[in-house]
Amino acid sequence: MRRSIRYLSQGRVIEVADFDPTTTLLDHLRLARRRTGTKEGCNEGDCGACTVALGRLVDGRLVYEPVTACIRLLGTVDGCEVVTVEDLAEGGRLHPIQRALVDRHGSQCGFCTPGIVMSLFTLYAAPGPVDRAAVLDRLSGNLCRCTGYRPIVDAALEACAARPDDRPDDLFAAAAAETRLALAALDDGEEVFVGDEDRFFAAPRRLDTLDHILAACPDATLVAGATDVGLWITKAGRDLPRLIHLGHLDGLDRVEERDDEIVLGATVTLEEAGRILGRLDPDIAHLFRRIAGAQVRASGTLGGNIANGSPIGDTPPLLIALDASIELVRPGHVRRLPLEDFFIAYGRQDRAHDEILTRIFVPRPRPNHALRVFKIAKRHDQDISGLLGAVRLTLDGHAIAAARLAFGGMAATPKRAMGAETALVGASIADPASWRPALDALRADFTPLSDLRASADYRTEAAVGLVGKALVEIAGTPTTRTRIAGSREEASHGRAL
Ligand SMILES: Cc1cc2nc3c(=O)[nH]c(=O)nc-3n(C[C@H](O)[C@H](O)[C@H](O)COP(=O)(O)OP(=O)(O)OC[C@H]3O[C@@H](n4cnc5c(N)ncnc54)[C@H](O)[C@@H]3O)c2cc1C
Ligand code: FES
Ligand code: FES
Repeated sequence: MRRSIRYLSQGRVIEVADFDPTTTLLDHLRLARRRTGTKEGCNEGDCGACTVALGRLVDGRLVYEPVTACIRLLGTVDGCEVVTVEDLAEGGRLHPIQRALVDRHGSQCGFCTPGIVMSLFTLYAAPGPVDRAAVLDRLSGNLCRCTGYRPIVDAALEACAARPDDRPDDLFAAAAAETRLALAALDDGEEVFVGDEDRFFAAPRRLDTLDHILAACPDATLVAGATDVGLWITKAGRDLPRLIHLGHLDGLDRVEERDDEIVLGATVTLEEAGRILGRLDPDIAHLFRRIAGAQVRASGTLGGNIANGSPIGDTPPLLIALDASIELVRPGHVRRLPLEDFFIAYGRQDRAHDEILTRIFVPRPRPNHALRVFKIAKRHDQDISGLLGAVRLTLDGHAIAAARLAFGGMAATPKRAMGAETALVGASIADPASWRPALDALRADFTPLSDLRASADYRTEAAVGLVGKALVEIAGTPTTRTRIAGSREEASHGRAL
């Protein structure tokens, strides 16, 4: 058992043995380490001013990802390299991203610029060609409120295009072999427990250790990526004296690609889940690109998106439409249940306090399945859904043999439209008149609420419109244009809306 956390910074191991469990990475950097280049803006993961890069080993490769330090808990960076804006320039020579931002007049206000530099550093650090869509995607979690992005995007494209063979050419690339060794050395297999039984940060490796801690402290809070839990601390002002981090649990970040299904561990990040599930369908890829921004997707987990029980979480309706199931584990007991049965009522899920969501089983679509997923939000990027609709049809020729229509934002939980599903069975995809009973039934399936994101009427009409749009697209009426620009394949690559 290790009584400290350790991370790499500028090639040195920083060991922190005495910290409060609720300490954020941002406060640690600014207050304890006086690294004030990393700024505090919104303090809720939205604006990107606090972006830093985390380096870690993924299958032996050194990968840098952007994260928002304001909601990332300090304890969760155990075993990572933490790169801040102060680390980029070498002997007074700016990093290629910084140089390009200066040359292209992309350096704007002092709050946003360090975060923008760090997001673009992670793009520069990943080998491979970089196009405009990739730059826009990487900047989707950096919100500038003053001018615009054009010079910033130009600078990023210029700096990345100048990389020899599309590979990073900076001090981090030069030190990559040493960094890999140092990170491997940090991975000592130890479980972490910092604090005492009243206030602690724990990062167990084994489920039995987790069970042991939970048995002793049943009110301890489980935390994965902290993109929800972090806000309970920074925004709701809650004190969370006992925190158990799930990120080190053995096997929980594993992905298994089976013939008939994909099995994702609960701590697989939203970014990674999007990469894997996005291969199943262009709409899935597009949906994941629209979940939060790159920083939140790199920290937030698929398991957290389900376990938080939110009625407007983006992945549950998609996963329910795909007929996914989940695994829950507690001491001596493993159970698997359809995902839709997990959500009982607002704020209530079918999970005992000592049960951990461990795996998500996603069946692969069959050749006679047709899927459509639509997210409605006020902004294209980095915005919570007002409404999300996922439609999966099973076709037998033109006949609709089965339908799964799942929605977020229409009820207190992610929910299927059972009346509309029943009415669709037996309808013909080639005969729009036969869809009408299902669209009418959909109006009766839900009684949505009005809130800041959408009125009840808007939600109902939009849901009907989304199912109609899905049917039109699946029917393949060639003259009907249903997307603002381009095809859904292009949308999934970020080339069109
Ligand atoms: C700026 C911003 C934008 C966002 N945008 C979106 C968006 O567009 N779409 C969207 O869907 N969400 C969005 N979110 C919400 C959030 O990022 C996701 O819900 C994320 O998936 C939560 O995962 P996490 O690992 O960070 O969860 P955490 O914050 O670590 O935990 C969330 C809850 O789940 C529990 N939990 C986590 N993992 C497990 C487990 N394995 N077993 C049991 N319980 C567990 C925790 O105890 C806690 O109650 C956004 C958040 C922010 C800050
Ligand atoms: S301060 Fe705004 S995202 Fe962290
Ligand atoms: S660069 Fe900071 S608000 Fe625009």
